[in-house]
Amino acid sequence: MGYKITAKENLSVIDFFMEVEAPHVARSWKPGQFLVLIVDEKGERVPMSVYYADEDTGRVGMFIRRHGVTTFKLWYEKQVGDELLSVAGPLGKPIEVKHYGNVVFAADAVCAQAECYATLKAMKEAGNYTIAIHSFETKDHVYPEKFLSKPVADEFYITTEDGSVGRKGHYLDVLKELIEQDKVDIVFAGGKLGSLKKLAELTRPYGIPTITTVRQIMVDGTGMCGSCRILYDGEVKFACRDGPMFDAHKVDWDDVIRRDSRFAEQQALARERYLAKLKEKGVI
Ligand SMILES: Cc1cc2nc3c(=O)[nH]c(=O)nc-3n(C[C@H](O)[C@H](O)[C@H](O)COP(=O)(O)OP(=O)(O)OC[C@H]3O[C@@H](n4cnc5c(N)ncnc54)[C@H](O)[C@@H]3O)c2cc1C
Ligand code: FES
Repeated sequence: MGYKITAKENLSVIDFFMEVEAPHVARSWKPGQFLVLIVDEKGERVPMSVYYADEDTGRVGMFIRRHGVTTFKLWYEKQVGDELLSVAGPLGKPIEVKHYGNVVFAADAVCAQAECYATLKAMKEAGNYTIAIHSFETKDHVYPEKFLSKPVADEFYITTEDGSVGRKGHYLDVLKELIEQDKVDIVFAGGKLGSLKKLAELTRPYGIPTITTVRQIMVDGTGMCGSCRILYDGEVKFACRDGPMFDAHKVDWDDVIRRDSRFAEQQALARERYLAKLKEKGVI
């Protein structure tokens, strides 16, 4: 049996929303965990973060970036009512949801925009004061407000690099101010590796617990390929099996950044070939 697509909507010039029926994931998923989808028989395993998991309907929501062959296929060739070959999960370890006080989630990439809502919803239900910071490049990248974390955030910020929506700058700028106002008890974050490294440097001197995803170096997401090994507090850990959320102060960020984008060249080639085929067929 396939996994039916139940909703799909564009979010920005580059990202879109998709909802699929995957009752086994919806039933047992917890914040911090991810799923792995396969589009069709020829498809690669592609890990995705979860925006929401609805136990009652058995559906899960995702934010997806049009990036390579798989995600272009999802956007151009898969419509509501079509099925995906596989949606496996939940995978990875959940974060600890409990009362911390003031909880920030900071996001500057597609997967983290999804995790922001999911995490803060759970943290608010656990009695925390929740602060969402969504960072985007420009107004063309900002999602419609109904897809952001406002309903689950006591404080809500959007930043853009050029100031075309919300505050000019990045989540690091907003966070610095919040820290100076003594408003931050713990930070969760995900997104660009360079930002996560800077985030760890920002919060370390204040001793603020900082839990972030390490995902870019994963391939199969099951602990089998060994691709996602990271140096963590002097030990080797697997991002997919031991994470994907880690204490950012213990991650060797330079090592992770060095190993990021190993397959970028092959992926770009495959993407160009796939787009050329779509053009030939008149799909785009
Ligand atoms: C935990 C986790 C959560 C994520 N959450 C999201 C999310 O919410 N939204 C989102 O858009 N993205 C997310 N990603 C990123 C997403 O899984 C990848 O960017 C994925 O590759 C996107 O699909 P694509 O079309 O670029 O893939 P493709 O180019 O089709 O590649 C598919 C997969 O094959 C691997 N691959 C490609 N070429 C090679 C090769 N030559 N050798 C070995 N492996 C190869 C890639 O690493 C990738 O995993 C997440 C990743 C992880 C690990
Ligand atoms: S992604 Fe393959 S072992 Fe973790």
